[in-house]
Amino acid sequence: KQDKRESLFVLSKWAGQYFVDQLWDSEEGRSIGLSYFKERGYREDIIRKFALGYSPDKWEALVTAAEQAGFQKEYLKEIGLAIQREDQSMYDRFRGRVIFPIFNVTGRAIGFGGRTLKTEKSVPKYVNSPESEIYHKSDVLYGLNLAKKAISDTDICYLVEGYADVISMHQAGVENVVSSSGTSLTSGQIRLISRYTKNVTILYDGDAAGIKASLRGTDMLLEEGLNVKVLLFPDGHDPDSYVQKFGSAHFKEYIDKHPEDFVFFKTNILLKDSGNDPVKRAEVIRDVVESISLIPDEIKVSLYIRQCSTLLDMEERILLSELNKMRINKS
Ligand code: CTP
Ligand code: MN
Ligand code: MN
Ligand code: MN
Ligand code: MN
Repeated sequence: KQDKRESLFVLSKWAGQYFVDQLWDSEEGRSIGLSYFKERGYREDIIRKFALGYSPDKWEALVTAAEQAGFQKEYLKEIGLAIQREDQSMYDRFRGRVIFPIFNVTGRAIGFGGRTLKTEKSVPKYVNSPESEIYHKSDVLYGLNLAKKAISDTDICYLVEGYADVISMHQAGVENVVSSSGTSLTSGQIRLISRYTKNVTILYDGDAAGIKASLRGTDMLLEEGLNVKVLLFPDGHDPDSYVQKFGSAHFKEYIDKHPEDFVFFKTNILLKDSGNDPVKRAEVIRDVVESISLIPDEIKVSLYIRQCSTLLDMEERILLSELNKMRINKS
């Protein structure tokens, strides 16, 4: 069993190198893949640091190369690099895509994300490795292998949605950043973060989906005892598009100045829709108190309730009694 896992790691590492070689050394890879990354504004040292690659636009390029290198077909299927046809033959999962290898915390390749270069809406933007014996999505944070030291040193972790966000932030010199890779944040991922810091700043995409995911992520992080700030980018930007458009210096200043404590973030977001309607306002207050009620530390709870009282112009006594009702209903 241990032997098999090790073989899967070895195969995964080989595949990562195969995609890298395709990017840099093949005509197709250079003209399509490498130029794509450069047009996105990625420097060569960053492309190498993240071991970005390219998968040829053929049905069996990797399958054939892997066989020649002596790997078992069964293992290719097992980690999802190949898919089996009805006649038992195999074809490549990743075709004509740029490749983002996914590493575990010790830096071993365990899966891949492949981005399409096409713009048609019918083509999925990303194709990812499936779950396997070495890849459990819910226990992986993209970029953690390269971020863990910076997270410890700065005692703060930036949480972003996507691969590109992590990469562009590194290029801008901000290395304490990880991505939940689109999958909504899991408690496994939160436990990984909390090995290195208790302070998380959410930098999700500035769109409706990003706001929703920020609110959900906030509650999950609070429940695990972490301190949460949130920053929303303007005009639908994500960290990658923002840094590429406005430059590193402006980006760093922006993420220094604009994160809001979750109570402010949530209150402001919710109040936007409620106006002065008392019924809606009551709902907002309950919603914010509900988030506070998740915090395991009673001192923090008490301080946040005080803040909330000022912010929402509501007596602390009433907020506390609501909070206690919520806790009783839960237990
Ligand atoms: N994602 C995915 N499959 C999709 C869409 C998204 O796995 N069909 C994951 C990817 O990890 C992606 C993240 O969710 O990086 C965030 O999605 P999105 O914001 O749509 O993509 P970006 O990371 O912004 O990608 P890009 O900048 O390359 O367009
Ligand atoms: Mn698992
Ligand atoms: Mn998004
Ligand atoms: Mn995005
Ligand atoms: Mn993006």
